[in-house]
Amino acid sequence: MSESTPSFAAGLEGVIACKTRLSHVDGEAGKLVFNGHNAITLAENNTIEEVWFLLREGRLPTAEEHSAFRARVETLGQLSPQEVRLVARLKGGEPLSAFRTAISAIAKNRNFKPWLNRDLKEVDNEVLALCSAAPAVVEVLRTGRKPIRKLRNAGYAERYLWGVTGKKPSADNLHAVETYLILTMDHGLNASTFASRVTASTGADVGAAITSGVGTLSGPLHGGAPGPVLDMFDAVGSVDNARPWADAQLAAGRRLMGFGHRIYRTDDPRSLCLKRVAEKQNGPRIELAKAVESQILAALADRQKARATTLNKPVRTLRVNVEFWTAVVLEHVGIPRELFSSTFCTSRIIGWGEHVREQIADNKLYRPLSQYTGSMPE
Ligand SMILES: CC(C)(COP(=O)(O)OP(=O)(O)OC[C@H]1O[C@@H](n2cnc3c(N)ncnc32)[C@H](O)[C@@H]1OP(=O)(O)O)[C@@H](O)C(=O)NCCC(=O)NCCS
Repeated sequence: MSESTPSFAAGLEGVIACKTRLSHVDGEAGKLVFNGHNAITLAENNTIEEVWFLLREGRLPTAEEHSAFRARVETLGQLSPQEVRLVARLKGGEPLSAFRTAISAIAKNRNFKPWLNRDLKEVDNEVLALCSAAPAVVEVLRTGRKPIRKLRNAGYAERYLWGVTGKKPSADNLHAVETYLILTMDHGLNASTFASRVTASTGADVGAAITSGVGTLSGPLHGGAPGPVLDMFDAVGSVDNARPWADAQLAAGRRLMGFGHRIYRTDDPRSLCLKRVAEKQNGPRIELAKAVESQILAALADRQKARATTLNKPVRTLRVNVEFWTAVVLEHVGIPRELFSSTFCTSRIIGWGEHVREQIADNKLYRPLSQYTGSMPE
């Protein structure tokens, strides 16, 4: 390799691929920032529309701006009767495949065109309208019918929870879900956000960019873990079984869902926040969840210590990630486990939309290099 050849980084680990003002993940310090604000404080105190406005405008809204933006998102979030029929036909099967296809179908139905050389205000409206529709899309995919009537002025989080549970949520449940939806709205250049930006960078329509995000998020290494976390609780069954179960899984070379993170080297602040929410809920899972968390962390620490000795080098300390406590919180509010990943999408779609807008505003086509490992012709 010549000195000028850039070095290869598996999984683009450690590579800075774009600039963003939207969010910053400090994996060493365990901090998450949304556009100049502590994301945990926002999640605990603000509405999803306030934080969405912050991502769009770079500042929190005034009271009037907040209610105007909330009303705009509510109006834009409605599906036409034709779109309801289109989405209802996708009911059944794997929820994220259906969600991905529904987002793509709506964009096609609205005749979205490549953004290049178009009025960017129009493109911006397309992004906001598509992202605003996520709660209705998940509801129609679940019921196969048009969304049930909700109170006027119900916010994004309330419409989502109402739609997937079929009843008006209690204030506590709404706060728990709104906290979750804000916490996971954006998270630096994670795989699905990167995928959305890559697609947008080609000038493709914004529906294609958002659809790329959904497809990428659907993998268990990214957004598919919270459902399997509940399966894990079921498999463990009792507090006493947590450690033997974890040791057996690790001995079989399996990954334990809800643990480990590419960026965080200390506790994930979102996870700590959701643990506080779960403790407040104090539901029937809480004791088992706490025991599973500590026993599995101990099992992972022993395994990592043994690997460090064998490999004679430091290895990563694994911590609990956001998906672990997400599972406990979402189950408690009555969201079925097969919809956990759709719930994640309903949050992250806001981040994808804002990243797509940011990419479009200062676009450069993503086109990295590959390292050829084949043979050369004679
Ligand atoms: C999230 C995740 C993909 C991050 O992975 P990463 O930073 O790329 O780290 P790696 O996959 O290189 O893992 C490093 C080592 O730790 C181990 N490890 C990481 N997470 C683990 C887990 N949850 N269970 C068991 N071992 C784990 C890996 O086996 C690997 O060991 P190896 O070098 O012997 O193969 C990974 O931690 C994982 O698979 N977690 C489980 C799925 C999950 O919870 N996803 C939701 C993420 S928010």
